[in-house]
Amino acid sequence: MESTPSHSQDADLIRPTRDVLEHALVKDRAAMARAAEQDLQAFWAREAANFVWFNGWDKVLDDSNPPFYKWFTGATTNIVYNCLDRHLSTWRRNKLALIWEGEKGEQRSFSYHALSREVCMFANVLRSMGVRKGDRVTIYMGRVPELPIAMLACAKIGAIHSVIYGGFSVEAIHGRIEDSQSNIVITCDGGYMNGKVVELKQIVDEALKRCATVEHVIVIKRTGMDVPMEEGRDYWYHDLMTLPVAKTASGQSRCETEEVDAEHPLFLLYTSGTTGKPKAILHTHGGYMVGVATTLKYVFDIQDDDRFWCTADPGWVTGHSYVVYGPLLLGATVFIYEGGPTYPFPNRWWSLIEKYGINILYTAPTAIRGLMRFGEAWPNRHDLSSLRLLGTVGEPINPEAWRWYHRVIGKGACPIMDTWWQTETGMFMITPMPETPLKPGSGTLPFPGVQADVVDEHGNSVKPGEEGYLILKTPWPAMMRTIYNDNERYVEQYWKKVPGAYFTGDSARRDADGYYWIIGRVDDVIKVSGYRLGTAEIESALVSHPAVAEAAAIGLPHEVKGNAIHAYVMLKAGQEPSDELIAELREHVSHEMGPIAKPEKITIVPGLPKTRSGKIMRRVLKARAQGLPEGDLTTLEE
Ligand code: WTA
Repeated sequence: MESTPSHSQDADLIRPTRDVLEHALVKDRAAMARAAEQDLQAFWAREAANFVWFNGWDKVLDDSNPPFYKWFTGATTNIVYNCLDRHLSTWRRNKLALIWEGEKGEQRSFSYHALSREVCMFANVLRSMGVRKGDRVTIYMGRVPELPIAMLACAKIGAIHSVIYGGFSVEAIHGRIEDSQSNIVITCDGGYMNGKVVELKQIVDEALKRCATVEHVIVIKRTGMDVPMEEGRDYWYHDLMTLPVAKTASGQSRCETEEVDAEHPLFLLYTSGTTGKPKAILHTHGGYMVGVATTLKYVFDIQDDDRFWCTADPGWVTGHSYVVYGPLLLGATVFIYEGGPTYPFPNRWWSLIEKYGINILYTAPTAIRGLMRFGEAWPNRHDLSSLRLLGTVGEPINPEAWRWYHRVIGKGACPIMDTWWQTETGMFMITPMPETPLKPGSGTLPFPGVQADVVDEHGNSVKPGEEGYLILKTPWPAMMRTIYNDNERYVEQYWKKVPGAYFTGDSARRDADGYYWIIGRVDDVIKVSGYRLGTAEIESALVSHPAVAEAAAIGLPHEVKGNAIHAYVMLKAGQEPSDELIAELREHVSHEMGPIAKPEKITIVPGLPKTRSGKIMRRVLKARAQGLPEGDLTTLEE
């Protein structure tokens, strides 16, 4: 278990104000949940009717081969048609789709028309470079408008994007490109983050030395820094976009959107699991579209005059679902900020809210805790009165941070949507809606149609207040379809622990009101500042250093980050422990995996606690580090 939030289960309910209730799309959540429970397919069919399908579905849900569920089978659509094309024949054509501010203060904005035009041209470029329906395209960029543009351009022509977060590094990129067999990588020369330059192109170059499949690299100029361009392989985005191939034969900046099956793959998103091998979560056009847009609409109550800011990076699932696809599907205006929250001062976010009149802010507990440390004076210098709803995601939020967010940022008037979900679920699963009475630290109730439970080792429901495994018992449209190229691992990891149910990997409690309290991961996943990392990937990065024989990584509680990585390392014979070596090992992990995976602390040890079959007992390391009881040690071989 990662961390136990301190909470009292009978905490006072925080009820929505009259203003919030009047505004709320859903006034009676319980009735909505009952309807969904009575007829799940009719519930989702009603929502699906809000989208354009070129061909209608034969079945809403095909559950003939569990756990390989399919949604809207027989239907054809394209998520990009629903994000862009369909808005162009309405007044939204001239509405702002995207507002962007760079870390240095530059501004760019795109109407739906302008965004669609850019996406069309880039889609034409990709087609001209040989990208076809079903091909995988790797995207590794900073937070610039071309990131969503690249994603949308891929999806528009039926290609499958695989976005790698810009905070990852050489080996993480190599492993992901190799697994997805991408031929094309889209990147930037560099990116700005916290006043520093991230050398994205250089990292890509290094990763490509390790993989053979990539034929072309498209480079967006962001920093203007000098980067080597390999003749015949590397192309500048701005050069390609001015070529005749970016337009139609008659010279128009248009591109036909590919009609795809509802179950056609939309993207791969790599995430961490129990082994060192990265696993690609696969999502599809139809079900993902319906699930993401519907949850965003009801939970964040998005209206046409709203400006929605989800601070997540598009390189993670939160960015895929609720920066890029969800808001555009709803025809909303989304705001993207390139840089770090405290650059150049800790009021940057608050000044952006004031400057752009943001109405809804969706962020992560780690950011709230980090900004809270700088005190109230920073936000109090700004007019935050445009805010009407707040949100949080990524890890349990401690009630202190919740209350600060509610009182100081929301002025006590903005409900906080604490949304629990995963890369695998694609959409919010346990979440308040604006009408829901809140308890600080609880994600409240399952979204209508979602059946969750908290169970013991044998799959039996535990009593209210008791801790157990969080499972999901009914399929939902935005659910992952499989692990790319690994159906067996999909079944094994998610559907075996409790037969017939989806195993989340989280532990939770449910209180007497049926409210869910997430405790943390029960597997080898560590949430560092809300970023999901696998112990195995960190360990294999350590072991790839010539001085290291064996390594174990664990997560220990950290005040701001939630968890921090601590690693234990056994050196090879003849290697001398030293502070320099420890510093070198930390740098090595940062270089291979990325700065987000750099261990907080590395301890050199003569041996690691293992089972007799040779498995490292991380829980023993964790208990020892925290001075806690070590539990059952019968399998331990010292
Ligand atoms: C954790 C992020 C508590 C949880 C969308 C889950 C949360 C993992 C919450 C998925 C929340 C996410 N409260 N814990 N509101 N939201 N988590 O795939 O452990 O990066 O299993 O998706 O984050 O992380 P992932």
